[in-house]
Amino acid sequence: MKKILITGGTGYIGSHTVVELQQKGYEVIIIDNLSNSSESVVDSIAQITGIKPTFKKIDLTDSKATAAFFEKYKQIDGVIHFAAFKAVGESVENPLKYYHNNLFSLINLLDCMKKNQINNIVFSSSCTVYGEPDSLPVTEKASIKKALSPYGNTKQICEEIITDTTKTSSLQSILLRYFNPIGAHSSALIGELPLGIPNNLIPYITQTAIGKRSILNVYGNDYPTPDGTCLRDYLHVVDLAKAHVIAIDRLLENKNKSALEVFNLGTGNGFSVLEVIKTFEKVSGVKLNYKIVERRAGDVSQIFSDCELANKELGWKAKLGLDEMLSSSWKWENYINKTTK
Ligand code: UFG
Repeated sequence: MKKILITGGTGYIGSHTVVELQQKGYEVIIIDNLSNSSESVVDSIAQITGIKPTFKKIDLTDSKATAAFFEKYKQIDGVIHFAAFKAVGESVENPLKYYHNNLFSLINLLDCMKKNQINNIVFSSSCTVYGEPDSLPVTEKASIKKALSPYGNTKQICEEIITDTTKTSSLQSILLRYFNPIGAHSSALIGELPLGIPNNLIPYITQTAIGKRSILNVYGNDYPTPDGTCLRDYLHVVDLAKAHVIAIDRLLENKNKSALEVFNLGTGNGFSVLEVIKTFEKVSGVKLNYKIVERRAGDVSQIFSDCELANKELGWKAKLGLDEMLSSSWKWENYINKTTK
């Protein structure tokens, strides 16, 4: 059984990926510092798959603890690196927190991988590296623009660190640039658990619908888009998780065409904020309380992916549509609302 290390494996995308990997027969080890997740996620994963993954609470910025972990768990075939801070606004307020955590974590991880001859990494990147794109849909060839936030900058720098390391070592790397992952597992046992007031659209919608928030602010309706609100390429987190399994399979089976590969992961469809609200109202049967407010600083007006490369090379295509994404988010919101009462 091949062993895969998932950093940030109790987080939102990490936990869904652990489930898919276990269901494909991989043995999974999770490390996470629990800074934005809970250890109970390990039990929820076990409830879904029937297998409890090994879990170690480790902060990857702690180089000694990270080295000690690798000393103990030498036989790792590949790593999927999710562990990172991800709130755009917070990164603007506290850039050092983001540079320190996101960069040192990766550097320590790569050091340990090198020392222990672990040569396969899949990295969790983001379409944020494209900034405001010159043309749509965005392909992997689009230029990398100056990042709009320290968070985005850490994704760009991490991509560069991996690229440079790949050039000069035995490392084989796949960078996955996600568009907007939303939704939750169909079991409703795992999903996104934002702490405090959510920054992202979908948790804000579901929390407003369930009554935790009084009103949803729609940030701007004067963008150059069909209804004036921003367009994003939303994709189901389970589709996204499956792409990670394909990527790690590809590395372990030496099917990659070069030592470093980059893939966009999205659906290729752009939906406006108002379209998302309408679809949510349709699938949930709940009328949403919302109002149009000023634009949010740093938002790009529209971005959606060209995923031909992932389709052709990985044989991956997002299958689940916006209805399924939003109904699974709604089911998850209802589940957490019940269990946390
Ligand atoms: N929006 C609202 N009201 C809200 C929240 C969001 O109108 O309360 C709007 C935003 O203005 C934007 C759209 O909904 O037009 C989507 O916003 P999100 O915050 O959900 O997502 P972003 O596209 O801003 O960013 C997300 C992640 C980043 C990641 C980026 C690209 O938050 O971490 O996708 O991958 F970098």
